[in-house]
Amino acid sequence: MRTIIRLMHKEDLSVICSIQKEYPELNWSRDSFYKEIENKNSVSLVSELKGQVIGYIIAKIVIDEAQILNFFVHQKFREMGVGHLLMTSLLQTLIDEGALFVYLETRKNNESAIRIYERFGFLGVAIRKDYYVNPTDDGIFMIKGL
Ligand SMILES: CC(C)(COP(=O)(O)OP(=O)(O)OC[C@H]1O[C@@H](n2cnc3c(N)ncnc32)[C@H](O)[C@@H]1OP(=O)(O)O)[C@@H](O)C(=O)NCCC(=O)NCCS
Repeated sequence: MRTIIRLMHKEDLSVICSIQKEYPELNWSRDSFYKEIENKNSVSLVSELKGQVIGYIIAKIVIDEAQILNFFVHQKFREMGVGHLLMTSLLQTLIDEGALFVYLETRKNNESAIRIYERFGFLGVAIRKDYYVNPTDDGIFMIKGL
């Protein structure tokens, strides 16, 4: 599958918000995406297939640490390597920007996400009890050196 990875633009937001509507568990508003696109300390990437956005990953850098804020691939295109490509591009960008480590939180039962993070060398270092709501769930705090 020939996908390209590029920076997210504000022109992508209508498509991204319509994707979000299909997934009630995704709770980012248009404004949340917009703020990250405009933030010069954030990296917002999309994966595009034949002109269509099919996934995205967003991270914020503070001095030498980076936090992954959002990572998503459209259901139809999962398990085809799109997430892998997004993560590879993000990590390289974070290194280029001088980040020394990267961290994230994920739901304890999000096996597909945890698997891909572990493949990239993230380590689960702490459990955050009841970190998530709707439904309530523990969060795993994961971290990786760059
Ligand atoms: C987590 C998520 C982004 C992963 O995206 P993805 O595009 O499915 O990820 P990939 O395809 O790169 O990798 C997933 C699996 O597919 C496998 N895969 C990759 N390319 C493949 C191919 N061509 N054929 C078959 N399997 C393939 C990978 O090996 C991987 O499995 P493994 O870890 O057992 O090796 C996606 O599941 C998602 O959007 N989930 C919902 C949102 C979410 O939970 N985000 C994380 C919040 S913390």
